[in-house]
Amino acid sequence: MNVKTIHSFDEIQKILTEEVASHSATFMLCDTNTSEHCVRFLLETIPALNEVPIIEIPEGEESKSMEIVAQLYEELLHHNADRQALLLNVGGGVITDIGGFVASTYKRGIDFINIPTTVMAQVDAAMGGKCGIDLMDVKNAVGLFSWPLSVLVFTGFLDTLPEKELKSGFAEMLKHALIADADYWEALSHVNPNEASHIAVFVKRSNEIKSEITKEDPNERSVRKKLNYGHTVGHAIESYFLSKSTPITHGNAIGWGIVLENRIAVKLGMLNASLAQTIENRILDIFGALPSFNKEEQEQIFQFMMNDKKNKNGLFNFSLIREIGDCLIQVEVSEEIAREVISV
Ligand SMILES: NC(=O)c1ccc[n+]([C@@H]2O[C@H](COP(=O)([O-])OP(=O)(O)OC[C@H]3O[C@@H](n4cnc5c(N)ncnc54)[C@H](O)[C@@H]3O)[C@@H](O)[C@H]2O)c1
Ligand SMILES: [Zn+2]
Repeated sequence: MNVKTIHSFDEIQKILTEEVASHSATFMLCDTNTSEHCVRFLLETIPALNEVPIIEIPEGEESKSMEIVAQLYEELLHHNADRQALLLNVGGGVITDIGGFVASTYKRGIDFINIPTTVMAQVDAAMGGKCGIDLMDVKNAVGLFSWPLSVLVFTGFLDTLPEKELKSGFAEMLKHALIADADYWEALSHVNPNEASHIAVFVKRSNEIKSEITKEDPNERSVRKKLNYGHTVGHAIESYFLSKSTPITHGNAIGWGIVLENRIAVKLGMLNASLAQTIENRILDIFGALPSFNKEEQEQIFQFMMNDKKNKNGLFNFSLIREIGDCLIQVEVSEEIAREVISV
C-alpha cells in the first residue's frame, strides 16, 4: 500500500482544497487541544475548509473507545453524510486511530485523510494503516488495517506540543534508526528531543523508513515485524503502569523496552555489549533510569508479556537488533531469558 505522504504546506493546501471539492461533504475530527492549536490555523490558511463541520472529542486515550465511536457515527448520520463523504483527522495518534476506524466502517467505508499533529502520529500512527480502538482497558482490542487517501505532515504543528509528547514520539524515531539506518542514528544523536524544531528536520526520514517497510509488508506477515522492536517488553511496561493508574507515555515505555530487549540480544550473543551500552546511555539520558521492579511487579509485567505476545512453543518471538540498522525478526527467546531481563 503506497500512501502519499506530503510535507510541503503549499501542497497540503492544494490537496485539501481539491479533496473538499471532489467529495459530497467533508468533516473535520479533532480533540480539545488540536481544535485550538491546529484546526484554527487550518481554517485561517485554507479557505476551502471554512464550511466544514468540526467534530471535537475530549483529548486523551480514554476517547479511543466504542462509546465515542458510536457518537461519531451518530454525528455523521445526523449530518446525512453519504458514502462519498470525507473525514479529515486532525490530531495525534488517538484521533488518527479513531478517525481511521470510524471512516473505514461508517457506511462500509468512506475516504479519510490524516493530518497528524504529534511527533508520534507524524512518524508512526498516521501512516501505517492500523486503526485501533481500546476495549475494557485492552489497547487496540478492536481495529482494522485501512489506509488514508493521504497523510499531510505539517511539522509546524509540533511547536505547541508539550516536551513529554515530543520525547514520546522521538522514541519511535530512535527505533526507526536502530532497525534501519546507522547514519540516521548518528544524526539523531545531535538532536535535542525537547526541541520541536530539531525533531521536525528528521520527521521525513522516519516517514521514509516506515513507509518502505509497510509498503513491502502491509499486513505484518514478515519485515513489518521489525517495527515491533522495543514493543514486546515496552507494551508490557506500558500496560503495567496503566494498570496502576500511573500511565507513562507510549514512547517512554518503548524507550525502556528497547533497552531491555537489547539486553536480551546481548544475552543471546547477537549484539555487542558495549554497543548495547552506548544505545542504553542515550535512551536513559532521555527517559531517565529504568525503574527497579520488585518481584511482584516483575511478575505482573511478565504476565502482560505472556498475554500480549505470540507465544509459540512456550517461546517468545522478538524483533532484535544485531547492529545499529540491522534488525532480525522472529528471534525465539525463552521464558527464562525474558524473565531475567525484567528483573533489573
Ligand atoms: N495506528 C498506529 O500504527 C499507531 C502507532 C503508534 C501509536 N498509536 C496510538 O496513538 C496513540 C498515541 O498517540 P499520541 O502520542 O499522538 O497521543 P494523543 O493523540 O493522545 O496526543 C497527545 C496529546 O497531545 C495533544 N496534542 C496533539 N497535537 C497537539 C499539538 N499540535 N499541540 C498541542 N497539543 C497537541 C493531544 O490533545 C493529547 O493531549 C495511542 O492510542 C496509540 O495506541 C497508533
Ligand atoms: Zn510504538
